[in-house]
Amino acid sequence: MHLIITNGYEEMSEVGALIFLETLLKKPNSRLGLATGSTPLGLYKKLTEYYKSGFVSFKNAESINLDEYVGLPEGHSQSYRLFMKENLFSKVDIDLKNTYFPDANANDLDKSSKEYSEFLKKKPQDIQLLGLGNNGHIGFNEPGTPFDSVTHKVALTKSTIMANARFFSSEKEVPSEAVTMGIMDIFRAEKIVLLASGVGKANAVKELVNDEPDTKCPASALKYHRDLTVILDTAAASLL
Ligand code: F6R
Repeated sequence: MHLIITNGYEEMSEVGALIFLETLLKKPNSRLGLATGSTPLGLYKKLTEYYKSGFVSFKNAESINLDEYVGLPEGHSQSYRLFMKENLFSKVDIDLKNTYFPDANANDLDKSSKEYSEFLKKKPQDIQLLGLGNNGHIGFNEPGTPFDSVTHKVALTKSTIMANARFFSSEKEVPSEAVTMGIMDIFRAEKIVLLASGVGKANAVKELVNDEPDTKCPASALKYHRDLTVILDTAAASLL
């Protein structure tokens, strides 16, 4: 594991964005595993700046998102597809045809989840971006998820619903289910970049960095991945 402790959110975002930049420059048709939430916003902003300055193009890249809420109508303001459009896709030259999400509105979620996982297995992500839940989740793989899990439907835990309520007008509007890449789907990525910012993440970071892998901290499954970079700000690193 490469552990990088930065001075703050800005620097964390910049270091993460530079790793994505390097990947795209080396391989313009990279398959980029992407995440939503507050943490990656600064990284997406930096990538947009690199694109606008002419350093990089996303024209030949593909994106694969980690997860999507079940039951939100297409175009809902909190759907992860819309989040990605607003924060990255509409600002760079990625072809929307090459942007993929779990189909969380499929009639048969087991079948569509299996297809997403097979799609990833055939051609794993060149790089996977991750945020970290306060409880150690990655994607929506909550504590207790087996490390060999593949894409599946999940019931969100109370703590995740509470943490995500800030994006909705009230807690009861947060969907109770989502479809997420499994831990194994994430682990297959060539390179993984996990970002964590703020003191709320400090305990999960401690479990990931200091403890042996255990399903009580899903992120800890990645500890011995061959190319994992964990980029923190000082608050997230405060219990190390
Ligand atoms: C988002 C995702 C989640 C978030 C995590 C942290 O696609 O899969 O695992 O990365 O909940 O969220 P923030 O960044 O909002 O603290």
